[in-house]
Amino acid sequence: MIVARRAHRSVDILRRVPRSHRNCTGTGSPACETIAGVTVTEESPFLRACRREPVPYTPVWFMRMAGRSLPEYRKARGSLPMLKALSRADVITEITLQPLRRYDADAAILFSDIVVPLKALGLDIDIKPGVGPIIARPIRGEGDLARLRDLDPSDVPFVTEAVTALVAELGAKPLIGFAGGPFTLASYLIEGGPSKSHDRTKSLMYGNPALWHALLGRLADIAISFLRVQVAAGASAVQLFDSWAGAVGPEDYRASVLPHSRRIFDALADSGVPRIHFGVATGELLGMMGEAGADVVGVDWRVPLDEAVRRVDHGKALQGNLDPAILLAPWDVIERRAKDVLGRGRTAEGHVFNLGHGVLPDTNPDVLARLTDLVHQESVREPG
Ligand code: CP3
Repeated sequence: MIVARRAHRSVDILRRVPRSHRNCTGTGSPACETIAGVTVTEESPFLRACRREPVPYTPVWFMRMAGRSLPEYRKARGSLPMLKALSRADVITEITLQPLRRYDADAAILFSDIVVPLKALGLDIDIKPGVGPIIARPIRGEGDLARLRDLDPSDVPFVTEAVTALVAELGAKPLIGFAGGPFTLASYLIEGGPSKSHDRTKSLMYGNPALWHALLGRLADIAISFLRVQVAAGASAVQLFDSWAGAVGPEDYRASVLPHSRRIFDALADSGVPRIHFGVATGELLGMMGEAGADVVGVDWRVPLDEAVRRVDHGKALQGNLDPAILLAPWDVIERRAKDVLGRGRTAEGHVFNLGHGVLPDTNPDVLARLTDLVHQESVREPG
């Protein structure tokens, strides 16, 4: 199985050679030199930083870089409801590529949502604009678990189709696949929608551990299957968004969440792709989020990166962590704060520049373009 997967990946990677390089036949031409090594994608600054290898400059991408901050996104969505748009390979492909046309970002992230696999299993879910996912019949008892069978690749053919098309289109640029983490998905399913305090979720976690673990076990299975679909189609890295896991304290995280996240990361270990783990307000959990098996720990803006370095074990890269709200400030403020993030990021074994959470809808795309260039210019390393 492992051998078959590796073989598949190497064929896959050859397909990712940029179009301009595909026709080179001999060796020695500049275009071919980059191919003579392993592969262009595998040697991209983003994947190198995830693997804690030397990079020519700090790679950068932005969570939620596709979406409402881009006028062309609104055009591509038109009147399509969010989950309808996310079930059409052509729309997913187009919207994923939109930020790459504006920003010289070092990776693309698949345009999808953490609730897409749940919708594909037949749950009655809607994404309400300005609100988030709404679940018609929340999970409240053992009987509700039957609705969460495992995900089969045939449930999400549009994801396979979109990832395949994107990988061909992106050339050497890596595509990041993602899934929702077990606490965050459980919270939407139990609360029935977004929640500030996650009261019902935590009361189920404290009051009915058997149901809690059964539920998170199923959500972990679904996340594993969803990530495997994306990796099989050519995604070069995966990110587990356990955005709201910061709602629990460290001991509860260790007992009630970490085992399920660990199972997800373990299941992806033989895929060979870097695994990123991110949550908001997870400053007290950063060490355990690494321990769960991530190669890269995502950090929100609350913990400076040099402090995050002290909180995670050796052998991890970091991703983050400019406060997205800083992008609404004048450029001199953005520049100063971005340089500060880069400086602190240098203390990490590997650093992928990002925001501390997603791009805010009011962000000016020109500012993100300028920030991308600033990160690249400011972080250039001398060769050798
Ligand atoms: O990063 C990217 O560009 C990829 C796109 C992406 C979306 N959702 C598209 C989306 C990603 C990575 C997600 C993950 C996601 N979805 C998370 C984890 C990341 C995070 O932000 O913490 C969570 C918690 C969700 C659940 C969800 N879906 C929320 C909270 C919302 C926003 C509600 C709103 O309108 O403010 C959604 C909807 C959603 N998912 C939008 C986008 C672009 C906005 C929908 C719209 O255009 O109206």
